[in-house]
Amino acid sequence: MKVYGAAVLLSVAPSWALPAHQLDPRVNDPPGPPGASGNLRGSEALIGYDPSNNVPKEPSTVVPPEDFTLAPGQSEDADLGLFIDLLDVKNPQPIQGGTYKPTDPGPRTEAYDRLNSDVFIPPSTDSGEVPQSMWPFALSHNRHGLAGAGWARSQNVDQLPSATGMAGVNMRLEPHAYRELHWHKEAEWALMLNGTARIAAVNEQGQTMQDDLAAGDVWFFPAGIPHSIQALDAGCEFLLVFNDGTFSEENTFLLSELLERNPKEVVAKNFRTDVSTFNKIPDGQLWIFPGTAAPADIQQQNVTGPAGSIPKASTYSYHFSEQEPYRVPGGTIKILDPATFPIASTFSVALVSLEPGAMREMHWHTTSDEWTYFLAGRARLTVYQAPASSRTFDFTAGSVGYVPMPNAHYLENVGNETLTFLEVLQAKEYSDISVNQWLGLTPKQIVKDHLNVDDAFLNTLPNVKPFIVPGNPDLSTTNFTGDAL
Ligand SMILES: *[C@@H]1O[C@H](CO)[C@@H](O)[C@H](O)[C@H]1NC(C)=O
Ligand SMILES: *[C@@H]1O[C@H](CO)[C@@H](O)[C@H](O)[C@H]1NC(C)=O
Ligand SMILES: *[C@@H]1O[C@H](CO)[C@@H](O)[C@H](O)[C@H]1NC(C)=O
Ligand SMILES: *[C@@H]1O[C@H](CO)[C@@H](O)[C@H](O)[C@H]1NC(C)=O
Repeated sequence: MKVYGAAVLLSVAPSWALPAHQLDPRVNDPPGPPGASGNLRGSEALIGYDPSNNVPKEPSTVVPPEDFTLAPGQSEDADLGLFIDLLDVKNPQPIQGGTYKPTDPGPRTEAYDRLNSDVFIPPSTDSGEVPQSMWPFALSHNRHGLAGAGWARSQNVDQLPSATGMAGVNMRLEPHAYRELHWHKEAEWALMLNGTARIAAVNEQGQTMQDDLAAGDVWFFPAGIPHSIQALDAGCEFLLVFNDGTFSEENTFLLSELLERNPKEVVAKNFRTDVSTFNKIPDGQLWIFPGTAAPADIQQQNVTGPAGSIPKASTYSYHFSEQEPYRVPGGTIKILDPATFPIASTFSVALVSLEPGAMREMHWHTTSDEWTYFLAGRARLTVYQAPASSRTFDFTAGSVGYVPMPNAHYLENVGNETLTFLEVLQAKEYSDISVNQWLGLTPKQIVKDHLNVDDAFLNTLPNVKPFIVPGNPDLSTTNFTGDAL
């Protein structure tokens, strides 16, 4: 095709020619609003190297030492991987070891860097690729219910693609609000985080249950079992864990939709009533909506048919808040698995609290991925994945962790308050392999030949699981047996 210059086109302007402005990218602009000036595109003369173009001298991008402070431990050997607390330092920099580099001149979101120092300044032992293992519910879309009745936000494979085995939801119900009567394809395990709620369900045999739960208590609804949740006078917040990483809170089966998505004639016939009975059913989903206060006496809502109540051994609630924890130096553990809560036949959990500086020992699970939720405090966790990868992630209250089976990991309290977290497994029993116990129960000669360690160390290896190891709350030192212990 013959190319015409703009001048030629303007003077000749045959009807088949392109309009002149389409040949000059600088003027190929739509008409602008009043007050607009300049062009959307620059000149094609700017493309590539131009010997006549004087690149202006920029000021240095190196952040000078007087513009920032280093956190305690930040100058130590990067192989030590000391936790670097950036929360309170001035202008945190990704510096490691005894240097003043590298710096970060920006652009940046400093708040993320402060909260995730092990991502911003990874220990030099981190290596290779490990899938993203941390997600804060604070970054999940928060769906609000009707009339300020509550909200819910979710984590599933859309946020953490490796979290295929489990998904989580964090839900809030204002006083007396309901999570609508519903059911779903997945099993639902729940931990009350705050406040009080009344749950109710009916099973396949027509047996029923109702119970009032407080913070720290647990419920479990098997797949397909219809249930309701209503906040009592205090309102409530809870955590839901589902046995499928693709679970979506948007995809539950709702009573409102059930009646709305069937012919009105069928709904009326089903209940042997007149079509007008359902004239006032809600238009659209209720999902989370305001309700009338539940009677304080749960007996008034105790509905049973000829099949009676669901037998205690297979009912759907567990008063986990009243279980005394197992105490070890550095923290406590409470286990809940089918041994004591049989209906939740695949959910095995540990609720762990760690004092500052203490650590859930290095371990892994043999039968399940681990889905973790952080209730309080600050933690870090390194995932070691075969053959040669590891990555460290930081957590605060309200975030989720995920460690695929059988990747090794620990959880260290890196804050100044008690760390509390929930480990959830899809397993018939809560179990792990403790690295301490593994080596403690391996013939000393074998361990010595592998690690070239001295006999004094071999003699300290335990033959029982410590679960938790205490530590110095001052994480900027390798003197693990500091004053506080
Ligand atoms: C429960 O809610 C109250 C009221 O907002 C709040 O003060 C308290 O910290 C919450 N508890 C937990 C464990 O977050
Ligand atoms: C409901 O009534 C049944 C039958 O009397 C009883 O076994 C059950 O404990 C009651 N449940 C509640 C929550 O009151
Ligand atoms: C705990 O740590 C936070 C974050 O570094 C800090 O702001 C706070 O002052 C500390 N509290 C105490 C009691 O040391
Ligand atoms: C570790 O700290 C404790 C308490 O401050 C002190 O008594 C001990 O000497 C320290 N150990 C080392 C090896 O520095």
